[in-house]
Amino acid sequence: MELGERSYPIIIGVGALARVRDFVPPGVAKVAVVTQKNIPHRPDLGELDSRIFTVPDGEDAKSMSVAAELAEGIAEFGLSRSDLVVAVGGGVVTDLAGFVASVYFRGIRYLNVATTLLAQVDAAIGGKTGVNLSAGKNLVGSFWQPSAVICDVSTLSTLNPREYRSGLGEMAKYEFLGSGRLDTEDLESAVARCAAIKADYVAVDEREGGRRALLNYGHTMGHAVEALGLAGRSERLYHGEAVAIGLVFAAHLAHTLGRIGNKELNAHYEVVERMGLPSRLPAGLDVEDTFSFLERDKKAMGSMTFVLGSGAVDGLEVVRGVGRDDVRRAWQEMREADAR
Ligand code: GLY
Repeated sequence: MELGERSYPIIIGVGALARVRDFVPPGVAKVAVVTQKNIPHRPDLGELDSRIFTVPDGEDAKSMSVAAELAEGIAEFGLSRSDLVVAVGGGVVTDLAGFVASVYFRGIRYLNVATTLLAQVDAAIGGKTGVNLSAGKNLVGSFWQPSAVICDVSTLSTLNPREYRSGLGEMAKYEFLGSGRLDTEDLESAVARCAAIKADYVAVDEREGGRRALLNYGHTMGHAVEALGLAGRSERLYHGEAVAIGLVFAAHLAHTLGRIGNKELNAHYEVVERMGLPSRLPAGLDVEDTFSFLERDKKAMGSMTFVLGSGAVDGLEVVRGVGRDDVRRAWQEMREADAR
């Protein structure tokens, strides 16, 4: 990741977990390892004084109260300004631990050991950290880059199949960001290709003033159907499953707005279904239910904002001012396609 003096290595490969100690920055004496109970991997930190902090399972860990408890814990452990937090897990752990590292002593170093496919291709890279509020996901956070990201692809063999599939949802997104076909690659190369694309987008626009927002392709409706599932209004979806549905929805929206044709629309079904991801809107959900989430989406500035395809050579762009009727029409078109 090229970010001037905040540049860092992203290490991808079988056995990378054994190399964590090599990437601990100089001057570190104590390490707070933040992880979850169900994550069966522990880095070898050699002679360093380390303590493991186990946070609650699942998305529940991304809360202000868990962040406060973790900060109290690392203060009690005696972590100093020159010490290190090591996050070991998926996006929940890297977002939470990165957030606490960014505010503890107004910011100490942290290192991500990404153990899920989703974290390796997306969440552990890029420096956005944060926790959820009841009003929405990631509403409190910071930009705080890690010192290194370690992605040992052998840790992916212990993921449950749905969690693995969730990572494929983000991978599907990269196919629309120029990665080329990923499912025929060996896993290590596919992860490396996605990480490189993410790093390129972040390097040119760290704070998401422009181009980096294209990485949110599929995420606007994706977040809405994910949040509605979490609220018990429809089936519960993993993040990447929701992104897959969001990618297909974004294609229908672009199609009904006359921005893309049938060929591009069908390509979205082809990619998502080839990766074994859901391509239909959740049963029982009404488009009207989505507006409170779409209009609250952190990317929406006054009206709904989507990343949409276009006839342009480089494909995607951020489109502001999308109205409710546009969304209703696209929803209707997708429901009709679902029924076929
Ligand atoms: N931490 C995820 C990102 O920066 O996009």
